[in-house]
Amino acid sequence: MEENTQTVHAPDTKEDDQTILEIHDLKTYFHLDEGILKAVDGVDLTIKRGKTLGIVGESGSGKSVATKSILQIVDPPGKVEGEIKLKRSRKGKEEWIDIGKLNPTGEKIRDIRGAEISMIFQEPMKAFSSIHTIGNQITEAILIHSEVDQEEAKRIAIDFLIKVGMSNPEQRFDQYPHELSGGMRQRAMIAMALCCNPAILIADEPTTALDVTVQAQVLDLINHLKETLDTSVIFITHDLGVIAEMSDEVAVMYLGKVIEYTDVETLFYGALHPYTQALLKSIPSVAHTKGELDSIKGTVPIPMNLPKGCGFYSRCKYAVNGVCNVDDIPFTKVNDNHYVRCVRLDEIENRG
Ligand SMILES: Nc1ncnc2c1ncn2[C@@H]1O[C@H](COP(=O)(O)OP(=O)(O)O)[C@@H](O)[C@H]1O
Ligand SMILES: [Mg+2]
Repeated sequence: MEENTQTVHAPDTKEDDQTILEIHDLKTYFHLDEGILKAVDGVDLTIKRGKTLGIVGESGSGKSVATKSILQIVDPPGKVEGEIKLKRSRKGKEEWIDIGKLNPTGEKIRDIRGAEISMIFQEPMKAFSSIHTIGNQITEAILIHSEVDQEEAKRIAIDFLIKVGMSNPEQRFDQYPHELSGGMRQRAMIAMALCCNPAILIADEPTTALDVTVQAQVLDLINHLKETLDTSVIFITHDLGVIAEMSDEVAVMYLGKVIEYTDVETLFYGALHPYTQALLKSIPSVAHTKGELDSIKGTVPIPMNLPKGCGFYSRCKYAVNGVCNVDDIPFTKVNDNHYVRCVRLDEIENRG
């Protein structure tokens, strides 16, 4: 397959030169025997330099598939469609490239993975091979993506182990992943993700498996690195507490769609979508409830053969037959920084 080497026009927001990744109408479908599973169904996202976009939603809402689509690492039989425009700097010049048009196994996308966009996961064992030391693996990543010699690569690797707060970094360098504690492995993975100075770091529930203290340290670390290295972060979580701590802007996802998009203050003090409001009410410390998502009845359905209209219809207390379940729900602009996919907004605002 021939690689598309054409660069694309800058997105509409080109006056806003802080935008470094612009995703438009992203669709990732799994064509299964039972039907078409629409894991991501028409997502638009904008990532700005040095800012964190939080993506929140219950399990199964399409957060992981959406971000894997950016890197073209969706499991088969997933198919990715849509624009994924990345601004990259090449020899001092800026160019836009549409990742969505690259061959998923070609050289260009491999070049982008790790070097310009890197990803950390919930489970660090997935990122590391168990048969090489973490030092070797981080050094290898540096050697692939930059023109330095072995000795310099080792120096950079140790420098990053220090940056992520590893104790005894020289000693850790020669250890195997299984010899590290969960928290230290997570740090090693972050070091590996950041060692090539990516413009964008995607963090997919990176602290869910860690205990509270280590979780707080890792979140602080990501925030610190974002500020000192000017990295943009896409932070995925189902936890609104973590969203509050990490995000500048937030996309709330439900059934493969972004249903509300706004800055973090508006999310907590002026959320409009009934789903977002229900998520907020389900925060234990706010709602004084015991169970997760107590205030939302039911669970996220499988996004296959869905009825027409709003995906939240069957669970929504504002739902109206003949209004919400007829057509696709458009994204309504409330103001420049607040978009909501709901046709009952007047009703919701009036009811407070
Ligand atoms: N490899 C796959 N094959 C089929 N369906 C998948 C696959 N990966 C994810 N899905 C489905 O896509 C939807 C979104 O999943 P995912 O992005 O993992 O959700 P989240 O990360 O928000 O919990 C879910 O319905 C899930 O079952
Ligand atoms: Mg996930």
